[in-house]
Amino acid sequence: MNTRRWQIDPGGRSLPSLRNDPAVGEAAAMLRAGKLVAFPTETVYGLGADASDDLAVRSIFRAKDRPSDNPLIVHVAEESVLYDWIRKMPETGRRLASAFWPGPLTLVLEHRGTLASSVTAGLSTVGVRVPSHPVARALLFQAGVPVAAPSANRSGKPSPTSAEHVWGDLAGRIHGLLDGGPSGVGVESTVVDVTGPTPLLLRPGGITLDRLQQVTPTVEVDPGLQGGAVVPRSPGVKYRHYAPRGEMWVVAGSGEAQVKRVQALADEGTAAGYKVGILTTEERRKRYRADWVLPCGRRSDPASVARNLYRVLRCFDELGAEWIVAEGFEGKGLYDSVMNRLSKAADGRLIDTNTNLSP
Ligand code: TXA
Ligand code: MG
Repeated sequence: MNTRRWQIDPGGRSLPSLRNDPAVGEAAAMLRAGKLVAFPTETVYGLGADASDDLAVRSIFRAKDRPSDNPLIVHVAEESVLYDWIRKMPETGRRLASAFWPGPLTLVLEHRGTLASSVTAGLSTVGVRVPSHPVARALLFQAGVPVAAPSANRSGKPSPTSAEHVWGDLAGRIHGLLDGGPSGVGVESTVVDVTGPTPLLLRPGGITLDRLQQVTPTVEVDPGLQGGAVVPRSPGVKYRHYAPRGEMWVVAGSGEAQVKRVQALADEGTAAGYKVGILTTEERRKRYRADWVLPCGRRSDPASVARNLYRVLRCFDELGAEWIVAEGFEGKGLYDSVMNRLSKAADGRLIDTNTNLSP
């Protein structure tokens, strides 16, 4: 299959002008015709298909090699559209939507069974979001259909934060790719289930727990997210994800103990004959020796770390790193989401220098 690629620079353009862009028109027509189109969102690139077309949605799973028990998020241009196919919008959902849409928040809601069943993987609920990226909004308005879109990566790889990442993973397997430049947030949306008496955070993401609690103080974190025996409620959370090809370790903690442990683990890899990469931040890049020492934003600026995370993980793959040691991050906010992604990439190989516990 030939993948059509369009370039579109949203910089400073109004929504009506983007909606009239021929590239957006062609991509929207492809979606309506049951084809697969990757597009930028403010979090990561998504791989879209018409959510009411079961065949089209099933081809997403094939293109990505995604397990079919992992449901997709449905993207809409504005909240009003989703009342056609959800059962009800609970009061907490209404408050969160009005605070954070358009933006990186996904709400899990009960649906009426009218969407393609492959979207929801047979569940009675569906994840929905209204993205804020101007190109995504223009595309969704023009398509006029709800668009199911997982992250546009091959399953198991880090999510794509640029059109180049999507191209590398999916060229020849999808019909179109709208290139709107790099994504801004860099980690996926925050998923909140509002169907029960207590709203539950199922996946940390672009909207932090603090910000959710400012709007709905009762939000709790899904106990399944903390690891241990409880199974996470969001099916996608259980898979190894976001992973580079090399063996990866995350060293949590802070200060000198953390720096020492990162270097010691890197040296272990070198001694064993591996090509070794260290994932660090601008503040500490000069502290380490390894085959590659890659900074991922500034430690003092969590947004910059989130924005660069997947790009740097992909970089290690391109360089051929076989053993990767990542500095972990302490604290709340966006670093919650960053640590969630890092420990998934490392498949749970997390070392905490505060408690001296090793796996
Ligand atoms: O930022 C994002 O959310 C990106 C962009 C493209 O919008 N999309 C994304 O999709 O990350 P995906 O498919 O990679 O992740 C969807 C997550 C998975 O963890 C999935 O299990 C969860 O949302 N999810 C979807 N529907 C759900 C439901 N009904 N109940 C619980 N979890 C659900
Ligand atoms: Mg994904």
